[in-house]
Amino acid sequence: MKTLIKNIGNIYTPVANRPYGTVAHWQNKQLLISDGVMVSVLDQKDAEPEADTIIDARGYTLLPGFVDAHTHPVFWQTREKEFIMRVQGKSYEEIAAAGGGIRNSVRRFREADKKAIKEVTRERIRLFPEFGVTTIEAKSGYGLSTEDEIKALEIIGELNREESLDLIPTFLGAHEVPDEYQHDRQAYIRLLTDEMIPLIAERKLAEYCDIFCEKDVFSVEESRIILKSALDHQLKLRVHADELFAFGAAEMAAELGAVTADHLVKISDRGIEAIAAAGVIPVLLPGTTFFLGKDEYAPARKMIKAGCRVAISTDFNPGSSATQNLQLMWTIAALKMGLLPDELLWATTLVPAISLGLNDRIGTIEPGKQADLVLLDIPNLDYLAYHYGINHTYMTIKKGKILCRRG
Ligand code: NIG
Ligand code: FE
Repeated sequence: MKTLIKNIGNIYTPVANRPYGTVAHWQNKQLLISDGVMVSVLDQKDAEPEADTIIDARGYTLLPGFVDAHTHPVFWQTREKEFIMRVQGKSYEEIAAAGGGIRNSVRRFREADKKAIKEVTRERIRLFPEFGVTTIEAKSGYGLSTEDEIKALEIIGELNREESLDLIPTFLGAHEVPDEYQHDRQAYIRLLTDEMIPLIAERKLAEYCDIFCEKDVFSVEESRIILKSALDHQLKLRVHADELFAFGAAEMAAELGAVTADHLVKISDRGIEAIAAAGVIPVLLPGTTFFLGKDEYAPARKMIKAGCRVAISTDFNPGSSATQNLQLMWTIAALKMGLLPDELLWATTLVPAISLGLNDRIGTIEPGKQADLVLLDIPNLDYLAYHYGINHTYMTIKKGKILCRRG
């Protein structure tokens, strides 16, 4: 089964194994795909190869499909009331302390039926391809009991099989200490290490284990215990680190060989050195800072100077970042972190693919890789972040098949 995409105005792709931000740009091309895999990039003026299906790119711009390496899509109710409380001056931490926040989502999640949660999650994740995203990492973390965390991970697994979008599952049972363990945190940590992690690993419900390592949530010492247990069970690590307070969480992520450290708004210079030396990928979430109404963004430039390859993701979740729009993250990261279009392309395709262990298959446009692509109605790469707040997607292609198209 051959597909030809013709009349491609521009192709931009990260060049793997080259310095961060190295991008190749070709104009007036056609791309031949066979059985979902890219075969060759030809000049538009070359003879048109035989194909079963022809897609007219109308002179638009082709990029690798976006990869979102940090999302929390499996929740029940939305939390717009908390958003309005923030608009009125309350902080995220105050709202959480007053019974809102993650624990609010947990109470509601536990009451809801699995099928119903699955269907609202399906609707939500279908918005990702609309914005050109072809793969997401998806976390549990609103169940916080063995049964409810399994419910969340099963939903992720089922949607991965049923939907065209790829979902990579992460266990985030250490998202918070749930209500019933508030007075015995040690018992919850034991539940995580002795029951949930072994069971989830054995049933292969998650590839990664994550934790909210933060003041008033899980301390560095507690996080180390939980994450070591995850490593013992062959789960790889992603860590919510140093978001609200400088905490040494990034240093711990480096020490344990985590694949990613995420947020990092408050990371120290020592933390930056540690993750750079250990090859931990910083997954930065500028939409969260923006949506929490804060002014301090993660020091992306410092991390890049230290040798880190930075990823940018949405952190899609009901509390601190209610958006699936990764294109909007380009604009916020450009203005608030000083990232340039070539860096943003790496940060939303190849680097998140590396962070999910998928870079042999996705993340760049090159023969031999899976045809996960997005066609954007933009004249050049600079334009993406510039004309902001709108969706530039004309078409999203997954394994050579049209996943969605405008109109
Ligand atoms: O990444 N930091 C912890 N978890 C989410 C927030 C989840 C929520 O508020 O529901 C985050 O920002
Ligand atoms: Fe998060």
